[in-house]
Amino acid sequence: MASLRLGDIAPDFEQASSEGPIRFHEWLGDSWGILFSHPADFTPVCTTELGLTAKLKGEFAKRNVKVIALSVDTAESHSKWIPDIDNTQGTVVNFPILADADRKVSELYDLIHPNANSTLTVRSLFVIDPAKKVRLIITYPASTGRNFDEILRVVDSLQLTDHHSVATPGNWKDGDDVVIVPSLQDPEVIKQKFPKGYTAVTPYLRLTPQPNR
Ligand code: BEZ
Repeated sequence: MASLRLGDIAPDFEQASSEGPIRFHEWLGDSWGILFSHPADFTPVCTTELGLTAKLKGEFAKRNVKVIALSVDTAESHSKWIPDIDNTQGTVVNFPILADADRKVSELYDLIHPNANSTLTVRSLFVIDPAKKVRLIITYPASTGRNFDEILRVVDSLQLTDHHSVATPGNWKDGDDVVIVPSLQDPEVIKQKFPKGYTAVTPYLRLTPQPNR
């Protein structure tokens, strides 16, 4: 199938996992979701990534995000690998790892890029909102572990900008000033939405304190 694009509904599926069978949409419920693939069990970078994800459980929970990993290994392989992640990363894996040995989910989410590797999944990650829409897609090569602080930063931006007429500048992090969306021009509405005021650096670049702070 064609690759997923932002705004598409994240495909539903039923697949085995380290925590038993999962029906994806039902498992997500009303939460935000992060589905991320890694190339293979028992590999070094993946071990650090899954350890980091486990350690960030509290941060994901604060943002109402459920996390699920995936590789084309079996549930049995995941179960053998998880103690290594726990022991080497000083954590407890507290989220399911999809066992996509039949590549059902990999095909739905276009996770195998044959010109990179014909059998293993790339490091892709999807942020999915409570309406099941895909809101972020990133794909990294096998040799580069992801920055999970960046994933949290994007979730913060999405959750903020969904509820206020703002966008977040480059390198923004929670608490920094944001920009008023260019489509908002009515001075009365601006005054009401941004009582702390704003600075117009140019007519289209209007900085304002983060409105939910
Ligand atoms: C890793 O997770 O360390 C890894 C996986 C596949 C290729 C290279 C590195």
